[in-house]
Amino acid sequence: MTPVTVTAPAKINLHLGVGAPREDGFHPLMTVYHAVDLLDVITVEEADDWSVAVIADGQVDIAGTPSGEGNIAVRAGRALAAHHGLDRAARIEIRKGIPVAGGMAGGSADAAAALVALDRLWDADTGDADLFELAAGLGSDVPFGLVGRNALGTGRGEQVEQLPGVATLRHWVVVPATGGLSTPDVYRRYDELAPAAPPQPAAPYRLVEFLEDPVEALAPLLHNDLEQAALDLRPELGTLLAAGEAAGALRGLVSGSGPTCVFLCVDRDTAQRVAATLRTTYDVVLTATGPVVGALGR
Ligand code: C5P
Repeated sequence: MTPVTVTAPAKINLHLGVGAPREDGFHPLMTVYHAVDLLDVITVEEADDWSVAVIADGQVDIAGTPSGEGNIAVRAGRALAAHHGLDRAARIEIRKGIPVAGGMAGGSADAAAALVALDRLWDADTGDADLFELAAGLGSDVPFGLVGRNALGTGRGEQVEQLPGVATLRHWVVVPATGGLSTPDVYRRYDELAPAAPPQPAAPYRLVEFLEDPVEALAPLLHNDLEQAALDLRPELGTLLAAGEAAGALRGLVSGSGPTCVFLCVDRDTAQRVAATLRTTYDVVLTATGPVVGALGR
């Protein structure tokens, strides 16, 4: 059987509003997701047993990526097989261009790509409703990995609705900080710092309205409720954010729960210049452009 290859993008949260924890421990979110062209490429082929091979694409440090059963792509494959009552397995190759454990949803992208690739390999013809339900069961950001582009995320982030702005490209500098921040730790610190968070975060109407506007209008509206918690746990990220803005970025922002920081720039040339300046201090500095499509490719 011919192997199947599917690509999935990293995400940036242009807005991340977080409410008080729900009874199940998850936090209600109002987020605007934006997919950028840092990509993981997943190839699946028929095999007797599940296995994962992870390959670094460029400068990405893959040390923190679990191989074998611990990898979310295998969990995605097992969930899809179980859903269809199939007794099948696959060899999964992940070529990683998305910074690992950094708040850019790299694992979620792999899960989304694995679902789509295995659905094609097995000719399973999974309907969209089932595919999105399987994705949500794997992680809060996985449904966004399927759709990509710009999307509003509600619930715990898993309910996604496409937003406009597909043709308006944004240029970013991405700095993956070394030594990950654990997502549950950042949410816990957020609860301590914001004990009076509302049960429902406010909807980011203004940002949604400005998605297709000139970048100077969009930049001041970028917001991340988790940023203070991430900075509290990793104060040196504040130095990085200031350095990026001093180098010419319109806005620096912690990406999701961090520690990766992203910088919105006025155009591609400025992003290259900001990246060159940051490279004098930071080991890995990437540039990226969004929005791009998700694993479904439509
Ligand atoms: O869904 P996902 O596996 O990405 O979530 C990882 C962890 O992040 C959860 O176990 C939870 O601690 C935290 N989380 C949260 N509220 C969300 C999403 C994630 O508290 N909406």
